[in-house]
Amino acid sequence: MKYLGGLTAMVFAFTVVLTGCGSRGGNNVGKKDVFVIGMSQCNLGEPWRVQMDEDIRAAAAEYDHVKVLFKDAQNDTLRQRGHIEEFIRQGVDVLIASPKEAAPLTEPLARAYEKGIPVIILDRAVLGDQYTVFIGADNRLIGEAAGKWLKKALGGKGNVVELKGLMTSVPGVDRHEGFRKGIEGSDIKVIFEADMQWLEPNARKEMESALARFDRIDAVYAHNDPGAHGAYLAAAAVDRQKEMIFVGIDALPNEGRAYVKQGILAACFEYPTGGREAIDTALKLLNGEAVPKKIVLPTRVYTPENIDRGGEAL
Ligand code: FRU
Repeated sequence: MKYLGGLTAMVFAFTVVLTGCGSRGGNNVGKKDVFVIGMSQCNLGEPWRVQMDEDIRAAAAEYDHVKVLFKDAQNDTLRQRGHIEEFIRQGVDVLIASPKEAAPLTEPLARAYEKGIPVIILDRAVLGDQYTVFIGADNRLIGEAAGKWLKKALGGKGNVVELKGLMTSVPGVDRHEGFRKGIEGSDIKVIFEADMQWLEPNARKEMESALARFDRIDAVYAHNDPGAHGAYLAAAAVDRQKEMIFVGIDALPNEGRAYVKQGILAACFEYPTGGREAIDTALKLLNGEAVPKKIVLPTRVYTPENIDRGGEAL
């Protein structure tokens, strides 16, 4: 920037203006009676995703001129691809997507973006940068915080089971890598790890294998609360739940936070859905306002000690 000549600076300024209110999310408000937002949800099998759609619905209900069309891909990548294509054909004004997997859904979302539809990616990232905005919490930070928290809780050593989220989705990779960084330099050993694909029944089955193979397990780190709960049920079924502590991620009031209150989880990290932020961002784009490429949502940790005070910010 220091050496930017006058002409280059002018071109630069012009480009910034164009990006701020260009064709991708241009100043449409006032030209249409109703704006249609397409919401491509990867599945509604878990309470967290039901909550995400609910947050979107509630935020959109505050605007008379906004209508949201919801599609549920039922945890099927090909079906979600089809939904995104339908939204493109339909010419929605904004497309919000929470993609099941990164690689296969990058291309159809990039196509929507190239066609001039503002694309908001929620929670599970895609590859590259062919979208308008990404909104989500920092999964690497959450994973690392979980690792550090466990390191402290276990006094720097112990046997841990890691039940991973779908490893073809970015949160799974980030929560895994962050966690490994968090336990670095300790004597914590991950004695068993498995991809439970975010699903409670899978987590329960994987945990049954871990319990059968290992006599001593000190903690379970699950990439989400359904996973931690599945592991708890497997341990409780063989009366070993008191031998270990359970840590999860999501912290919905009626799920993870309730498990902390019930003494099932020793710690739970909040993963906000971003539903409201997605609608606020969609409205800004429709108004022609500039928005950042990435919106990082805050997170908190809940433990039995702090849950009545509303947890603690990370
Ligand atoms: C729901 C879910 C959440 C998790 C998120 C990660 O499908 O598995 O439990 O935090 O997706 O994308």
